[in-house]
Amino acid sequence: MGLSTATPMPWLAGPSTPCPRVVRRIVHRLGRILIYLRVVTSYPARLWSQSWKALLRVDSNTTLHNQENGVEMKLSGNTIFITGGGSGIGRGLAEALHKLGNQVIISGRRKGHLDATTKANPGMQSVELNVEDPASIAAVAKKLMAEYPKLNVLINNAGIMQIDDASAPIDDGLLVSIVTTNLMGPIRLTSALIEHLKKQDGAVLIHMSSGLGFVPLALTAVYSATKAALHSYTLSQRYRLKGSSVRVLEIAPPWVQTDLMAGNNDPRAMPLAEFIDEAITLLGTDAEEILVERVKPLRNNPGPNEGGFVTQFNDRLMLQPH
Ligand SMILES: NC(=O)c1ccc[n+]([C@@H]2O[C@H](COP(=O)([O-])OP(=O)(O)OC[C@H]3O[C@@H](n4cnc5c(N)ncnc54)[C@H](OP(=O)(O)O)[C@@H]3O)[C@@H](O)[C@H]2O)c1
Repeated sequence: MGLSTATPMPWLAGPSTPCPRVVRRIVHRLGRILIYLRVVTSYPARLWSQSWKALLRVDSNTTLHNQENGVEMKLSGNTIFITGGGSGIGRGLAEALHKLGNQVIISGRRKGHLDATTKANPGMQSVELNVEDPASIAAVAKKLMAEYPKLNVLINNAGIMQIDDASAPIDDGLLVSIVTTNLMGPIRLTSALIEHLKKQDGAVLIHMSSGLGFVPLALTAVYSATKAALHSYTLSQRYRLKGSSVRVLEIAPPWVQTDLMAGNNDPRAMPLAEFIDEAITLLGTDAEEILVERVKPLRNNPGPNEGGFVTQFNDRLMLQPH
């Protein structure tokens, strides 16, 4: 394709042929800068100082609320109940916390997994629980409060992840099962134990969300949505419990090598032991969100332009499923 010698943008030809539109734009911009400077310089000093004071007031209140909720979780001497403690992240956390000198009670539906875990960790206890079933939650909560009156930490870890198709009619059974397990389960179990927890010193409530709650994996749209909802619920709960003895924490793991979905050996996922080590270290700090380094790009993405990264992230995984 040949280039025309008569350029449609004559001002690009040299400084001797300025475009009137460009000149108008420069004058307009200069005008706006002058107006801005006038506003800034005429803003009374008293108002500036009041604005700063208002900002500082918010800062000091925030610090105060954090202090009221306690600083860091003590990593020993707790009585901890963890859902989904017979496998994966739940088992990893249960074993690490058991070794640190906590009374740990694990739960789940598969008795074989629970027994194998307690056998490998003498002193650890287990109870069968189906978090999809409100009656099971109520019965287990009652048993826990009766048998472990010092129970002061609840870790809502149980979850399921299944493939769906947000571009087609949804299988209602699949939808209800994921939402009931991942969102209603933690809410119901917390509800059954919250009044008990409020009476304990140094109580901690931990929800297991996911990096996918911040950047959804489109192949598992319902799963990702339940984790985003759990994050939101955690924020409300933390706000409502400020000033109480209950700290509310969220663990948002990256992709970790477990049996959650086929992929427990995928080299792109974080080795389970590494994840547990980093997460336990963070649990001992004053962080309210337990974010290992690998999940930070996902956690930090949300904002007005989040869609771009969501597309890149999903394109990459669609093109390289293995
Ligand atoms: N692995 C990852 O990449 C990753 C990333 C982010 C977040 N997470 C979250 O981490 C949590 C643990 O997952 P994981 O990766 O460790 O996978 P996992 O090994 O499959 O663990 C899930 C656990 O949840 C329990 N569970 C599932 N449905 C239950 C129900 N209805 N009632 C009671 N327990 C139930 C399972 O026990 P039973 O089957 O015996 O009931 C199992 O022990 C989940 O919430 C998951 O969403 C995982």
